[in-house]
Amino acid sequence: MLIILHSPIIIDIMGTSKNPIGFLTRSFPLKSDSALLFSGTYGIIALMQALIVYGSSKGRVARIAAIVSETLNKAGISVLSRNVFEVKPSRLLDYPCLILGCSTYGQGDLQQDFLEFERGMDTLDLSGRTAAVFGSGNSRYPYFAEAVDILEAKLKILGAQLLLPGYRQDMMTSSPEGEDTRQWAENLAAAIMQKGGKELKRRIL
Ligand SMILES: Cc1cc2nc3c(=O)[nH]c(=O)nc-3n(C[C@H](O)[C@H](O)[C@H](O)COP(=O)(O)O)c2cc1C
Repeated sequence: MLIILHSPIIIDIMGTSKNPIGFLTRSFPLKSDSALLFSGTYGIIALMQALIVYGSSKGRVARIAAIVSETLNKAGISVLSRNVFEVKPSRLLDYPCLILGCSTYGQGDLQQDFLEFERGMDTLDLSGRTAAVFGSGNSRYPYFAEAVDILEAKLKILGAQLLLPGYRQDMMTSSPEGEDTRQWAENLAAAIMQKGGKELKRRIL
């Protein structure tokens, strides 16, 4: 019971109900407190898991990924963060929220490790999943942070819903640990929480 009441989603949902306890009891048609705890907690855990997959040659995108991961964790979202060479594309199917980070090389191409992973995504059906993309580039190049556009387009084609505009960090003006990164990560956390809350309401009302 305590865990449910501490969840920001449940607090959000309860805020819309005149009788929070009655609302919870009706929403989870199970008799015992432990069953209620289980069903509520399970619903939240299932919706609030995010996978970050990042590709980074010189470490800038890896540093952004660390800030994003830390910020989402602070917001109560469970995050697994992996370098793209450590995971198979099919792993994306295990998470409701997908966050891809990639730098840009060549003539607006994906970072090298991400090329094969992106091709491997072709057969995946990502409908019903939420997603977001971040990347680092250099605005002196003609195709600035193009990897973000490539991955956003890919996720959309595969059916994922983008939660917010992608973050394109310019290495000429920003640092991975700068305020821009934190702000985007906080916006992402808020979007995930809001989406999770709406989805939970949809499922139980
Ligand atoms: C050979 C080379 C090509 C690059 N091409 C681009 C490019 O087309 N567009 C862009 O925005 N940045 C380009 N960059 C800049 C990198 O994307 C930028 O340094 C980025 O911060 C690297 O991130 P990473 O350390 O995570 O790999 C290029 C850098 C190098 C060395």
